[in-house]
Amino acid sequence: MSQNLSGTVPSRLRPPRYGVDAPAFLASTAVTGTACLLAAARRRRGRGPVAAAGAALLASAGVYLHTTLRGKLRVWERELDRIGLKGDERLLDLGCGRGAVLVAAARRLPAGHADGADLWSREDQSGNDSAVTLANAAAAGVADRVAVHTADITALPFADASFDVVTSALVIHNIPTRDGRERALDEAMRVLRPGGQLLVADFWWAAAQYAKHLGAGTPRPLGAAYWYGGPWLGVALLHVVKEPRPMEEHSC
Ligand SMILES: C[S@@+](CC[C@H](N)C(=O)[O-])C[C@H]1O[C@@H](n2cnc3c(N)ncnc32)[C@H](O)[C@@H]1O
Repeated sequence: MSQNLSGTVPSRLRPPRYGVDAPAFLASTAVTGTACLLAAARRRRGRGPVAAAGAALLASAGVYLHTTLRGKLRVWERELDRIGLKGDERLLDLGCGRGAVLVAAARRLPAGHADGADLWSREDQSGNDSAVTLANAAAAGVADRVAVHTADITALPFADASFDVVTSALVIHNIPTRDGRERALDEAMRVLRPGGQLLVADFWWAAAQYAKHLGAGTPRPLGAAYWYGGPWLGVALLHVVKEPRPMEEHSC
């Protein structure tokens, strides 16, 4: 099922809001950190290690919150600027959620189109809903070039070679089986046109597995702005250009 709000919603209603990734994980880190600090305050002896653990967990929650609210947005602005978009491309964002990458891409495609595909899991992102994504596109003034599709990225409802660029941010690791993750990567390559670009951001160890499966690309760490709490949950970008079709032979 696909949806868009083309021409029906006035632009710039409010700033887009992209929610919090894996909100339960963030909440449990913050709650455990606070509990450690409270327990340390009540102890008469041996409070040092408990207080240190509490402070470390709260610091980690702060880093996570910065990444999900600000850092990842800045990183994607930078990475989308680097790939040389002309502005008329057709782009697909796999697991678009509330549209952080989708909307940033659509802003760079005044004569193009940005499609998002998702299953709208609220465990993976707070308030996840196709209507929220479309409202964010409207708020950013790009509703006319954005559409969203309720679709599983392991079986995409798009024709072969129908996109110039495919992006995906912190999505594929959520697929529970290796077979499913590899199907998602194969689907991304199938819908990409020869010469098109694939950009997958995911935890560094997952990105390394994707590069191995595709037999292409070298994941590049995206830095502290994309740490979900610390470097152990850092994100790397796999950038692959799909091989162009071999030159067709012409007979004279
Ligand atoms: C952590 S959120 C990231 C959302 C967005 N890419 C971003 O960076 O803000 C992960 C997203 O992947 C989606 N997702 C997970 N598994 C999926 C699947 N098999 N097919 C489609 N979407 C999926 C979730 O619904 C969620 O929106």
